[in-house]
Amino acid sequence: MIDDNSELFKEKFRQAKDMIAAAGHPVVLTGAGISAESGVPTFRGEGGLWKQYNVFELATPEAFTRDPALVWEFYNWRRELLAKCRCNPAHLALVKMEQRFSPAFTLITQNVDGLHTQAGSRNILEIHGNLWQVRCLRCGRLDTVYGVFESIPPKCDQCGGMLRPNVVWFGEALDPQVLGAATAAAESCDLMLVIGTSAVVQPAASLAILAKKRGAGVIEINLEETDHTGRLDITLLGKAGEIVPGLMDGL
Ligand code: OAD
Repeated sequence: MIDDNSELFKEKFRQAKDMIAAAGHPVVLTGAGISAESGVPTFRGEGGLWKQYNVFELATPEAFTRDPALVWEFYNWRRELLAKCRCNPAHLALVKMEQRFSPAFTLITQNVDGLHTQAGSRNILEIHGNLWQVRCLRCGRLDTVYGVFESIPPKCDQCGGMLRPNVVWFGEALDPQVLGAATAAAESCDLMLVIGTSAVVQPAASLAILAKKRGAGVIEINLEETDHTGRLDITLLGKAGEIVPGLMDGL
């Protein structure tokens, strides 16, 4: 932990643990930072994907229409990388949290890496989709396919239509049902943990503020301060893989 020796951090950590223990129906919102210690690149910050690649060439519907093979090359590369990644202690601690509060527990994730599922979390809303899922542009069929595609762009087994990654690209709307469920959870929770997100992509970023406005206690865990910091109840600066298990210890 970055500041685990400071008295202030210890006090905030204790308060956060008390808030979690007293919660009735908590929600957790995660971003790329929770998977960073699993070796999954984040999007912003040092080494972030959008620092190295142009999002408009790789993660927009226009990019896919222009050059589906190039977009698929990028997703194949991410699939190859992700296949080597394993869930970390932060993902596992959230499984413990779900077991403690289930069924009154919702995990909202912006991550498409599937690591929460790999860890064993159950009630997950993947608001930006899932990298392992593909969707047929002709018949709409959803399928889960692990590994990389030998031939790109890949084709649908059923109708021969072109497949796309089932993720939300920039400029696209989120699945209204999934977003509706996430919004309802944020509105009605009494505690929210916001872990490893830069809080710049909407509508995900506004969910924490919504929870706060509706009276929930909101705790942020991040390596660094974000736009949320100061607007929430507690910010714990440090690695998710170290802080989150500590918060769930003894739950
Ligand atoms: P970002 O890459 O924008 O932010 C990652 C955050 O995690 C930063 O605030 C880091 O400080 C923090 N972080 C990094 N390592 C950490 C660690 N070990 N422990 C705790 N925090 C850590 O990722 P997101 O906020 O998830 O969208 O990005 C939101 C969306 O933008 C993504 O879902 C993706 C992207 O474009 C789509 O693909 C639609």
